[in-house]
Amino acid sequence: IKAQVPTFESIARGISKGEYKKIIIMCGAGISVASGIPDFRSPKTGLYANLEKYNLPYPEAIFDISYFAEKPEPFFTLARELYPGNFEPTPVHHFFKLLEKKNVLKRVYTQNIDTLERCAGVSENKIVEAHGSFATASCQNCGEEYKAIDIKSTIMSGKIPYCKYCEKGIVKPDITFFGEQLAQKFWWHESDFPKADLLIVMGTSLQVEPFCDLIKNVPQNCHRLLINNVEVAVNRSSGYRKKTDMGFKFNEKSNYRDAKKIGDCQKSIKELVELIGWNKEFKKLMKK
Ligand code: OAD
Repeated sequence: IKAQVPTFESIARGISKGEYKKIIIMCGAGISVASGIPDFRSPKTGLYANLEKYNLPYPEAIFDISYFAEKPEPFFTLARELYPGNFEPTPVHHFFKLLEKKNVLKRVYTQNIDTLERCAGVSENKIVEAHGSFATASCQNCGEEYKAIDIKSTIMSGKIPYCKYCEKGIVKPDITFFGEQLAQKFWWHESDFPKADLLIVMGTSLQVEPFCDLIKNVPQNCHRLLINNVEVAVNRSSGYRKKTDMGFKFNEKSNYRDAKKIGDCQKSIKELVELIGWNKEFKKLMKK
């Protein structure tokens, strides 16, 4: 018997019937666009297309640790715009909380640094902020740790926060820059992903390694659902694996487990919730 290739609708039915009990979410900037935070790579509206004012040698320099050591100003100018506290979680973030309440959320792996998963009430032990977040910060010289609130007023007033202990180092929010180690919690994936029974990938271009590689780490029989406004594939710069080993297989005969919903993720999530039959609870959660 050939298993049915899952669809958005069949996955909704599965969630409704309690067939998925260990759902892993992998998400990125696209889920926070509705709250007013631009994503990175969307042409025209994405952050990387709008960095002219910072005079960067290349867009990613704003998150590059060696560039930061020389010139921290562009990052802090941006940090002022993106600082947590100014944005509200979106329906997608509330959906994560609903999955947790229903006891079917294994973990949310987010690349986002905006802390909106926390703001939606998702428990800290259910969230892996793979690229760190603004929630904490540390001195680049002595390592002294700070909370977001400790450096907020300095950043907001357009100044660069220096360590009050060693008085030398810049206090940098604990966001993982290019050239830095990923957050320790990222390694939870080694035990999480082999246990997943549904993977939902949402609002990410899957361009940044090693995060994007995780989509292959779920079991062979685990369904994978992409919710994004464009189709995405994992493009490995190193190229030692074939692209087809990594990406979704929507259009291939060999696909037996990948489904997609292309369009605005907020709209798709509302549709998913409706199909599952969780509308009432969802609305209640969003009102809180
Ligand atoms: P990207 O900007 O690369 O990708 C966002 C994806 O979301 C794109 O495919 C968009 O088309 C899609 N998108 C945008 N709005 C959407 C919407 N309303 N509904 C559905 N899809 C939407 O952002 P990430 O994949 O998160 O690193 O980027 C990964 C990492 O690259 C970031 O964590 C950041 C960056 O350099 C660091 O900050 C260290």
